[in-house]
Amino acid sequence: MIKFILNNQSIETNLPKGTTVLDFVRYHKNLKGTKIGCREGDCGACTIMVGELTGDAVKYRTMTSCLMPLANAEGKHIVTVEGINPENNELTAVQQAMVDESGTQCGFCTVGFVMSLTNFCLDESPKDKNSAISAIDGNICRCTGYKSIERACEKVNSGKWEVESGKLVPNYFSDIRKRLTVLQNEQSKIKNQKSKIFVGGGTDLYVQKHEEMVYAEANHVLFDDELRTITETDELVELGASVVVTDLLESPIFNRLFPNLYRHLKLISSTPIRNMATLAGNFINASPIGDMTAYFLALDANIEFNTGRILPLKDFYLGYKQMDRSEDEYIQKIRFQKGFTHFNFEKVCKRTYLDIASVNTAISLKVTDNEIEHAHVSCGGVFATPLYLRKTSEFLQGKEISEETIAAANEILQSEIAPISDVRGTAEYKRLLAKQLFKAHFVELFGVG
Ligand SMILES: Cc1cc2nc3c(=O)[nH]c(=O)nc-3n(C[C@H](O)[C@H](O)[C@H](O)COP(=O)(O)OP(=O)(O)OC[C@H]3O[C@@H](n4cnc5c(N)ncnc54)[C@H](O)[C@@H]3O)c2cc1C
Ligand code: FES
Ligand code: FES
Repeated sequence: MIKFILNNQSIETNLPKGTTVLDFVRYHKNLKGTKIGCREGDCGACTIMVGELTGDAVKYRTMTSCLMPLANAEGKHIVTVEGINPENNELTAVQQAMVDESGTQCGFCTVGFVMSLTNFCLDESPKDKNSAISAIDGNICRCTGYKSIERACEKVNSGKWEVESGKLVPNYFSDIRKRLTVLQNEQSKIKNQKSKIFVGGGTDLYVQKHEEMVYAEANHVLFDDELRTITETDELVELGASVVVTDLLESPIFNRLFPNLYRHLKLISSTPIRNMATLAGNFINASPIGDMTAYFLALDANIEFNTGRILPLKDFYLGYKQMDRSEDEYIQKIRFQKGFTHFNFEKVCKRTYLDIASVNTAISLKVTDNEIEHAHVSCGGVFATPLYLRKTSEFLQGKEISEETIAAANEILQSEIAPISDVRGTAEYKRLLAKQLFKAHFVELFGVG
C-alpha cells in the first residue's frame, strides 16, 4: 500500500508501485490539468510539485510526473494544478501573471509553467529575474513564444509571497507539515530485499522501458535516507548513491569545493530532471555521455556497493553498457579525495541547455607553483564507455602548465579516444571537440591554451 497526500486529499493505493504519478492523477483521480506531452521528461507539460518533510518544514521540488513511479510519492505531498487553484475561483499570483503578460495561448503547456513558477516562489533559494527564468528551464511552449512568459516570470519575481497569504497556494498547505509527520510515522519500507531491480528517479528507466517498469517488483531508492547524505572529512567527500544533481547544487560542501558548480550543473538536463536524477542512476546507465559520470571520473571517485566492495569508477566500465558488477550489487556510496586545487567541466551539445552532450569532459588538477602534481581527465562521447583518460592524466603529472604541455597532452588524448559518427556529430567533429574542450579547461582555469 502506498500512502501520500494528493493536493488536499489523503491517498492510500494498492496500484502497482511502478505506475506513473501522471497516469495515477489523470486516469485514477480524473485530474486532467496535468498534461501529457512527450512522456520522456522533455516537455514539462506534466510538471508537478513534490513536497517532502525536511526537519520542521516541507520542501517542494518540481518533478516530471510522466517519469515518476508512485512508489516515489510515498509519504510525500503531491501537488497538481488542481491543488493550487484558489477555492474562490480566482487566480493565484502566478496564474494571474501569466494572464496579464499574455503568457498563454493554446494553454497546453501553461500548467507546467505555472507549477514550475509556483515552486520557484515557494522555495527559499535567492531570487532574481534570471533564477525565475531558470525555474522554467524544463518547460517547452510551442505557440506563445517565450518573451511573454519571461515577462510573467519577472512579474512573479517582483512579488513577495508568503504561503499564508493564500495568493500562491491555498491555505490547506499550512497543515501539510503536520499531515506528513503523521504519514511518515506510518510509512512502509519500500525496499524489497528479493528484487534486484533498483529505481532512482526513473529518468532513464521510464524513458527506456516505461511499460515494463509499471509492473516491475523493484527497490525504489530515490528517497532512501541512508543513500542521500553528503558528508566530508579532512581528506574526502562521501555521497549517498541517491544524491540528485540538485542536492549537489544546494550542498555547502560542493559550493565550497567547486566555485563554478552552478554554471557546470546547469548544463545538465532541466530543473525537474535535476531534482530526480541520481548519481548512481547516471553511473549505472553507463551512457558514454553521462555528465555526472564524466564529472566524477575526473574526481577519480570510488564507488562502494552494498557488499562492501569498493571500486574506482574508472575501472567500472568494461565495454558498451557493460560494468564490473554482479546482479546482487547496488551502489551505496561514492567517495572522492579533496586534494585538487582546480576543477573544470565542459560540455558541447546541439543546443546549450536541456540537451545531451556531443562531447563532455572534466578535469581535476593539483597544481603547486605552476607544476601539476596530479591530474585526472575524463571525456565522454568519444568511446564506447564513459572514458577516464589514463595516459593523458599520467602524462600531465609533474609537467608545467604551458601551451607546449597542453599540445603534447592533446596528442596523447587523441590516441586514447575512438569516437564514432552518429546523430550528435561525425567522428572527426568529436575529435575536434575533444581537442578544443581539453584546451578550454586550461584557458578557463589558467588563461593558457
Ligand atoms: C529530459 C532528460 C534530460 C536528461 N539530460 C541529461 C543530461 O543532460 N546529462 C546526463 O548525463 N543525463 C541526462 N539525462 C539522463 C538521466 O537523467 C540521468 O542519467 C540520471 O542521472 C539517471 O538517474 P535516475 O536516478 O533517474 O536513474 P533511473 O532511471 O532510476 O536508473 C537508471 C539505472 O540505474 C540503476 N540504479 C539506480 N540507482 C541504483 C543504485 N543505487 N545501485 C545500482 N543501480 C542503480 C537502475 O536500475 C537503472 O539501471 C536526462 C534524462 C531526461 C529524461
Ligand atoms: S509529458 Fe513531457 S515531460 Fe512529462
Ligand atoms: S501555450 Fe500553446 S504550447 Fe504553450
